[in-house]
Amino acid sequence: MNPTPAPAQTFRAIDVIRKKRDGGELSRGEVESLVNSYTRGDIPDYQVSAWLMAVVLRGMTRAETAALTDAMLHSGEVVDLSSLSARKVDKHSTGGVGDKTSLVLAPLVAAAGVAVPMISGRGLGHTGGTLDKLEAIPGLNVNLSVAQFCRVLDICGCAIIGQTAEIAPADRKLYALRDVTGTVESPYLICASIMSKKLAEGIDALVLDVKTGSGAFMKNEKDAAFLAELMVETGERMGKQIVAIITDMDQPLGSMIGNALEVVEVVEILRGEGPHDLRQLCLELAGWMLHLGQVADTVADGRKQSEKLIASGKALERFRQMVELQGGDPRAIDDPKKLPRAPHTMILSSPKDGYLASLQCEQVGTACVILGGGRERKEDFVDPGVGIVLHKKVGEAVSAGEPLATIYYTAETRAARARGLLEESYQITDSLARADRALIHRVIGKSGENN
Ligand code: URA
Repeated sequence: MNPTPAPAQTFRAIDVIRKKRDGGELSRGEVESLVNSYTRGDIPDYQVSAWLMAVVLRGMTRAETAALTDAMLHSGEVVDLSSLSARKVDKHSTGGVGDKTSLVLAPLVAAAGVAVPMISGRGLGHTGGTLDKLEAIPGLNVNLSVAQFCRVLDICGCAIIGQTAEIAPADRKLYALRDVTGTVESPYLICASIMSKKLAEGIDALVLDVKTGSGAFMKNEKDAAFLAELMVETGERMGKQIVAIITDMDQPLGSMIGNALEVVEVVEILRGEGPHDLRQLCLELAGWMLHLGQVADTVADGRKQSEKLIASGKALERFRQMVELQGGDPRAIDDPKKLPRAPHTMILSSPKDGYLASLQCEQVGTACVILGGGRERKEDFVDPGVGIVLHKKVGEAVSAGEPLATIYYTAETRAARARGLLEESYQITDSLARADRALIHRVIGKSGENN
């Protein structure tokens, strides 16, 4: 008798890579097979890296983007939060430098009575990640199971975790791979990554903060608007209320960059202090979240309620509670000395009198990664104590010798590289030619109409 023939192989990664490389459109089945095989560990990183690069160069159709989002979403479970009576609203940013708004918004919005189930990411490319920032708080665990996540949400109305083996595990693997293979900057991949995580959270509504400028993945407003529309369309197709706000990322948000330093700035904002731009953006995003959460009639009302929750200390108290429930040391919230801090500092001073005309924001983010605040390879350890404190914002006057930034570092060689990059990032001119860029550029999405 002849031996039983091996079953015909229906999916071969190489075929899908070639098809995308040559500009073809993948079927839903091909996209699903690729995502599922990779999540199971049946195809190696190098094949998926090649496919990701082909997507960056060739793009995707709307049907492919929808198939990719669905496959990533269904690689894990969709959290059922129907037992929570509050409306569930989340916010997600497309990534920036110094963007710590999630850490402010989760407790602030929860204090207003809206549930915030946040599944966040780690640093990606030159941008910082919410999870890395949170992990700078001693003991804090972002790897909660779905059951633990629901418990924290139930008690304090907000929780922030990473993708688990249960929730969007495909994104967890793809995100880490994209970070180190130069394949972040694709609107289709960003859309699928963000929307798969967010749709798995069991939310009713979502506020998207789509960044534009030199520190964003989308450098110009046209590309940011394209990404915003793609994500709004994807979310609305799934029956969610989605608003995308295009905001400025042409200079870092706030003054502090680096994981533990950013936690310090979060606490400042929750105390009613901190830099103006960060506070303004937090209030704007919170206003939208409260409005979509149906506890504020208008966005302006949502902003006002948020200001009061900060002034009364209720938002900060909620942050302490969330930190403690996730295993973190709540004393670190009131005493920054309990947060990790790099052992050395170095000051970068202005070479001349003039005005800070611009700051190459991506380079500032990369400088922080080089210090050890982010990853250059998937397996890299993140140093929570390193970072950069900026002493001047774009448009401000500077004198020769005045400090522009303080670098917090652990290793001399890394500090020297980061310093070189930072020096190149500053443009100081004799007069100020550029008009101020608005922080909030525009709002996209049906849910944003009439506001
Ligand atoms: N944030 C995400 O979650 N994914 C991306 O791809 C980019 C930013």
